[in-house]
Amino acid sequence: MTHADEQASLEGILKDEILRMYQEVADNPEAEFHFFHGRPAAEMFGYAPEWLERAPAGAVDSFAGVGNPHERAALKPGETVLDLGSGAGLDAIIAAWEVGPEGRVIGVDLNPSMCLKAQENLATTGVTMECHEGRMEDIPLPDASVDVVLSNGVVNLSFRKRRVAEEMFRVLRPGGRISITDIVSGRELSQSIVNDPKLWAA
Ligand SMILES: C[S@@+](CC[C@H](N)C(=O)[O-])C[C@H]1O[C@@H](n2cnc3c(N)ncnc32)[C@H](O)[C@@H]1O
Repeated sequence: MTHADEQASLEGILKDEILRMYQEVADNPEAEFHFFHGRPAAEMFGYAPEWLERAPAGAVDSFAGVGNPHERAALKPGETVLDLGSGAGLDAIIAAWEVGPEGRVIGVDLNPSMCLKAQENLATTGVTMECHEGRMEDIPLPDASVDVVLSNGVVNLSFRKRRVAEEMFRVLRPGGRISITDIVSGRELSQSIVNDPKLWAA
């Protein structure tokens, strides 16, 4: 097996685990996970209490981010925002409140049923978001089409992080901004961690 074949096979295993794990957070948020999620996670990351009160319970309960990308995004009314790995939609909903009716929020998620879930959650909020099935490694948007890229706990899931960064810069308009919260390790991870799809997917 060549290195490329091996990588493609590992990427396929990881994709299946990512689909399974985040689907479970969306369908069964009350189940046990070995990462923070839902309202306790959002509170810990400093999401404004009024956002969490106002957002639909489905989006709050299935929130699976690792930080608060809104803190530095400084979204302005009228802007176009891309939420990469939009999941059950909490970050997209908050972005939609911030950019207002003149703005536009576009979600992209690997898992088409996440887009359906996010749309279901958004339906009760009066705000809208487009959601596209797609991968952050091949963002299904034209060049220079968004003002801000948001992402919360998603880039660490990719095998091809450099490619993700190139894609973010491709879709950003000149002068655009990126606000990401993610996981980085200050030391090299052991092979037993790197080779465990459950740990990588989480
Ligand atoms: C950590 S959650 C995102 C949290 C979300 N922002 C929220 O408000 O709850 C991860 C999401 O990223 C999606 N995802 C994982 N890998 C992806 C990829 N390569 N491209 C696009 N989306 C991906 C998963 O399907 C999942 O819905």
